[in-house]
Amino acid sequence: MTVLVVDFGAQYAQLIARRVREARVYSEIVQSTITAHEVREKNPAALILSGGPKSVYEVPAPSLDPAIYELGIPILGICYGAQLMAQQLGGDVAHTGGGEYGRTELTRQGPSALMEEWPAAQSCWMSHGDAIAAPPAGFVVTASTPLAPVAVMENAERRLYAVQFHPEVAHSERGQELLENFLHHVAEIPPTWTNTSIIDDQVAAIRAQVGDEQVLCALSGGVDSAVAAALVTKAVGTQLTCVFVDTGLMRKNEGEQIEATFTRQFGVRLIHVKAQDRFFDALAGVTDPERKRKIIGELFIREFEAVARELAQGEAAPRFLVQGTLYPDVIESGSGHAANIKSHHNVGGLPEDLSFDLVEPLRSLFKDEVRHVGEELGLPAEIVWRQPFPGPGLGVRIVGEVTRERAEILRNADHVVVDEIKKAGLYRELWQSFAVLPAVRTVGVMGDGRTYAYPIIIRAVTSDDAMTADWARLPYDVIESIANRLIREVPGVNRVALDVTSKPPGTIEWE
Ligand code: XMP
Repeated sequence: MTVLVVDFGAQYAQLIARRVREARVYSEIVQSTITAHEVREKNPAALILSGGPKSVYEVPAPSLDPAIYELGIPILGICYGAQLMAQQLGGDVAHTGGGEYGRTELTRQGPSALMEEWPAAQSCWMSHGDAIAAPPAGFVVTASTPLAPVAVMENAERRLYAVQFHPEVAHSERGQELLENFLHHVAEIPPTWTNTSIIDDQVAAIRAQVGDEQVLCALSGGVDSAVAAALVTKAVGTQLTCVFVDTGLMRKNEGEQIEATFTRQFGVRLIHVKAQDRFFDALAGVTDPERKRKIIGELFIREFEAVARELAQGEAAPRFLVQGTLYPDVIESGSGHAANIKSHHNVGGLPEDLSFDLVEPLRSLFKDEVRHVGEELGLPAEIVWRQPFPGPGLGVRIVGEVTRERAEILRNADHVVVDEIKKAGLYRELWQSFAVLPAVRTVGVMGDGRTYAYPIIIRAVTSDDAMTADWARLPYDVIESIANRLIREVPGVNRVALDVTSKPPGTIEWE
């Protein structure tokens, strides 16, 4: 049972789709150009029309094929989607002049399946300039706000509902309840989309796709590749070979953890390529950040290629390659229609003669779902809840030339920062928290002696998507314990600084 979320303006639809899934109902995002015929083919159990940045009066404003309202499918319009429904079905939308932004009081006007047992007044989150002035024939108004006389309207018989406020945002106190009432009671969709059902579906899909062919997977240490590999293991364990390329620029214990989990716990064949020396040699004398990225990226592909080529010449040549593509990548790549994306294409950087069919078991999932699936599959919390880590690893956190010595100092320093952040219970609420090592040395004094060693910069940020970020206001005592431990426990460090730059103007990483 699928709910289609019709997208009238990017960021709104994704949030709605996630909230629907939190209500344990599978959701997919579709473009607003979808036709009634295409909707019927997808056979959804309900539709939700998202909000959007436009006014229904703007030309061109995104619209909806009006025949969709005649399909008999329950529809919930939100904000722009609500106004569009009103306008298309013969109601009236007006520029109210003022508009409402933020917390607004909603007053009940009558009984509603969306707001069962709600009090007479309830706060909700508004963001609109236009408002519905008069509902279409057959609709009743069930709630209003000071500047939106028709804040909620409905035609219960046709199961068409429209709400001016945003039930999907956390500030709308009973918003999730409203969505669940729509999904479970109005549209009568049972809450059956669970982590277990996701795993069962994906395991079946992987088995069907892969058959008895061999599968290859590159593990990066990150969450996505680990969960994708764990799913493939559950589906076709003995046909899977994992490759972990240690670049020498990984976080502390990353390689050991991968090995412990995949080799010892899951019993998967793991090829652990210890390529540190080749990476440090290639990086000698290089200080330009983009050159470093290029060198690390290309060498990684060449190391992976060497393993893949060797396997390809053996008896059990892999035909499939696992990729940890997530749903937001699928949506952002423009198509949104999963079925239209080619499943056979060459993976970036691999030569033409070495091509694989892709297995992408996470392509319908959001990041938080991936983490929960990972937990359910038995992956350790350290892997499942790990913060994002850039592909070039510590290479872009050493400002200046990357050397073995600096990588070792930074790895130990990073471990101290993360360890103290975890002890303080802050790790999961921070987007990223790590150490940076600028390749300069400063003078210090320790005991009776003068030191001349590296400073470490503490970088910790909060963010939702890495596009913007704020520097984290770490408690002073946490900063103090990090600083004390860095100086005491990490040889080569004699000074600690804190980065208090947001993004923009800064970036999260230093290079
Ligand atoms: P910035 O530093 O641009 O980083 O604010 C935004 C997010 O992207 C990550 N990042 C990278 N990830 N390869 C990656 O795979 C890279 O070269 C790279 N550079 C930055 C960064 O950690 C943050 O999450």
